[in-house]
Amino acid sequence: MPVRERFQLLYISRLSPATTPACVAEIVRTARQRNQARGIGSLLVFDGLRFCQYLEGDAVAVGALVERIHADPRHDDFSLLHQGPLSGPSLLKGRNFIYALCYDDSLDSVEQTRGTHALDLLAGLLKTFDQDPALPGE
Ligand SMILES: Cc1cc2nc3c(=O)[nH]c(=O)nc-3n(C[C@H](O)[C@H](O)[C@H](O)COP(=O)(O)O)c2cc1C
Repeated sequence: MPVRERFQLLYISRLSPATTPACVAEIVRTARQRNQARGIGSLLVFDGLRFCQYLEGDAVAVGALVERIHADPRHDDFSLLHQGPLSGPSLLKGRNFIYALCYDDSLDSVEQTRGTHALDLLAGLLKTFDQDPALPGE
């Protein structure tokens, strides 16, 4: 079977006013289990109001997943910031799934940016987030 190119995608969205942050634990549990089974790597950032998620894997698998996520009523204002072949080093640095809490407004800058620049911004911010699992050595 030919090896397919790795694909990456980044979006930002808002927690739906119809739901509460209590749903986030369930989202994290589902994402952690299911993404691993599909060979998809993911970083999910939550700042209390917004989600910012980076997905990396087979293009077809990532495309199918993002369609399901997009339709999920637990969030709205879905905005695609970047999608394309994996370029440069992975944001995940060898981890399969990262859940990160952001305690300030730093996702504002990511929300206003598009393309690989949005990825670079997020990569720079990542060390300021409360990450689980933490990057070894941090
Ligand atoms: C912000 C957000 C991020 C999500 N991330 C993932 C994810 O990375 N992987 C996943 O399988 N489901 C994720 N979900 C949940 C999916 O939308 C969906 O509920 C889940 O995959 C179950 O799909 P199903 O009902 O079609 O089986 C996320 C939901 C939200 C609101």
